[in-house]
Amino acid sequence: MTKDANGKYELTKIGYFLNCSNTTGVNINFTQDVCYKGLFHLEDAIRSGNPEGLKEFGNWNTIYEGLSQLPENVQKSWFDFDHFYSDEIFEDALKIVFRSLPKTVFDIGGNTGKFAMLCCDYNPDVHIKILDLPGQLQKALTNAKNSGRENRISGQEVDWLSKNPEISSGADTIWMSQFLDCFSKEEILKILRTCVAAMNHETELIIIETCTDRQKFDNAKFILEATSLYFTAMANGNSKMYKATELIDMAESAGLVVKEDITLGEYHTLFVCKKDDGFET
Ligand SMILES: C[S@@+](CC[C@H](N)C(=O)[O-])C[C@H]1O[C@@H](n2cnc3c(N)ncnc32)[C@H](O)[C@@H]1O
Repeated sequence: MTKDANGKYELTKIGYFLNCSNTTGVNINFTQDVCYKGLFHLEDAIRSGNPEGLKEFGNWNTIYEGLSQLPENVQKSWFDFDHFYSDEIFEDALKIVFRSLPKTVFDIGGNTGKFAMLCCDYNPDVHIKILDLPGQLQKALTNAKNSGRENRISGQEVDWLSKNPEISSGADTIWMSQFLDCFSKEEILKILRTCVAAMNHETELIIIETCTDRQKFDNAKFILEATSLYFTAMANGNSKMYKATELIDMAESAGLVVKEDITLGEYHTLFVCKKDDGFET
């Protein structure tokens, strides 16, 4: 606080942003509640390649395994942060997803089911299958049921870090929003190759990420790069926010062709991929 010419207290610029900016709020709460204590273990995490800070909350291999069991305030700050950086682009993304009139969409890493529910509202015929870890899937399917959409949203448990993860065929569109950044490059290749094996030549695979090399402002690039500290110390020990060029390389190495490369909203990049006809393994 400062005082004005009449000696009355007034809010400083920092105070204004702390009170009125949602971006500031979600980032500060995420840093304080999710990351702060765990970052004391950053050096150990860098050395071991495991999220050593996560032991501040529980004994899981990754934060995603423990998400539904985190303390309530930590869970709230995690989901608020996650949703803040997804929700704002869903409306524009829906227009792109439904250009091809998909009847079945697989939402990989569908989390609480927010996008699946928006798909149901956007198109009366589409069926969404959410693929996620058991804790998140249960939450998503409960949300679908509570909103009367249980006939249109189904689910499949999958752990992409298991030995041989599989997904069924039958998707017209495979959707991955803010999902690949939860994995190392090697793991991403495994995920994308598994998806390619379940795709036909019409299937679209859509990737949405906030890419470090696609930011308009240096501060945004810096903040995204710093998010890697969360991935190292808390999330999984081995992932990060990627450059668009890295994601394109990985998609191509997995047997995909990037058909469209679209900027969405302030920070996001959307890739529409198809199976590469000429790809030889
Ligand atoms: C950052 S959230 C993104 C959620 C949502 N798609 C969005 O755009 O907001 C990543 C999602 O990937 C899931 N996930 C992480 N690791 C996973 C794994 N090993 N197997 C399956 N799903 C996983 C998480 O449970 C979570 O729902």
